[in-house]
Amino acid sequence: MSESVPPVPDPGQVAEARWRAVIDAAVDGIIVIDSRGHIEVFNAAAQRMFGYTEPEMIGKNVKLLMPEPDHSQHDGYIRHHVATGERKIIGIGRAVTGKRRNGDTFPLHLSVGEMEIAGEPHFTGILHDLSSRADLEDRLREATAMARLGEMAAVIAHEVKNPLAAVRGAIQVIGSRMKGDTGDAAIVREIIARIDGLNTLIQDLLVFARPPKPKPSPTDLRALVTSVVTLLKSDPAFGQLEVDILGEAPTLPSDPALMTIVFQNLLINSAQAMHGKGRIVVAFDESRGWHRVAVIDHGPGIHPDIRAALFRPFKTTKARGTGLGMATAKRLVELHDGRITVDCPAGGGTTVTVALPSPA
Ligand SMILES: Nc1ncnc2c1ncn2[C@@H]1O[C@H](COP(=O)(O)OP(=O)(O)O)[C@@H](O)[C@H]1O
Ligand SMILES: [Mg+2]
Repeated sequence: MSESVPPVPDPGQVAEARWRAVIDAAVDGIIVIDSRGHIEVFNAAAQRMFGYTEPEMIGKNVKLLMPEPDHSQHDGYIRHHVATGERKIIGIGRAVTGKRRNGDTFPLHLSVGEMEIAGEPHFTGILHDLSSRADLEDRLREATAMARLGEMAAVIAHEVKNPLAAVRGAIQVIGSRMKGDTGDAAIVREIIARIDGLNTLIQDLLVFARPPKPKPSPTDLRALVTSVVTLLKSDPAFGQLEVDILGEAPTLPSDPALMTIVFQNLLINSAQAMHGKGRIVVAFDESRGWHRVAVIDHGPGIHPDIRAALFRPFKTTKARGTGLGMATAKRLVELHDGRITVDCPAGGGTTVTVALPSPA
């Protein structure tokens, strides 16, 4: 009976299905284009990498997947190669930049092979996403730079500290010999105030560059934040601030001295951003194994110029800022295996969140 005979598979279709399965199983992106740059194959890995489906991409110009200047020049690259046979990337491969559907660009390694189909030149690109490697390299470079900077800062701070103490002592002696409240006495007081400012800077630099090893003890974070707020409000410049502390905070193992520095830095930044007036909220909450403390202000938000490098030392927008507050806070939080993140919501203001892992 003819119905019981299994259909004979078309050898062409079998070959096509097998070929397709192979390219879709590839970990790397595979894109085939014709000599005008039009896409003929866009495998599963390429779809994941760029965020387009294959039906969307068939027939489209491959330059869609490139940022400028390649985007405008790619048609020219192909024409030049077809006309001269000169190889810039074909058979060689190199790192290039791709552009995903959402506009993000990312590094990738591209190697291109040339072939002929029905007498027409075609090109096969094999694409390997390098973003995670580039990320890792960036972080490594940053960590190395930070370590060098830290070493240098520590040496300088150390070398400056003792002579500065000697200068302060000598000036104080001279000051004490002055009679009455003369103009010179005011100058001496000003010199001492400046030296004290320098000392604070050096202390801050040392905490950032050579943070002490945390000595964790059970710490009531809410009480800790409350005492930082009390201290902050004792500064006349911040007397008009209101600070609301919301939520429950557990007792967490952390170093109270270092955590005090963290919240001092964050609260001072918020207080300065709000010019010493208005409301700051400190909100505690806990979820999925993390205890979070959010410091929320309604200042102008983090300046766009500084956002990407906010946690780098010496990044400041303030005339008398040191740019050490955020870098130090990050360092100290990370020494507690915690994370610090910054968010500038669309509605304005800044939220800095410190997350500490719940004790196991
Ligand atoms: N809450 C905040 N609101 C607005 N800008 C902030 C806030 N916190 C930090 N910044 C920005 O980040 C910069 C770096 O902060 P920080 O490291 O504490 O150094 P500094 O306070 O000495 O400038 C500040 O100069 C400021 O531009
Ligand atoms: Mg600061």
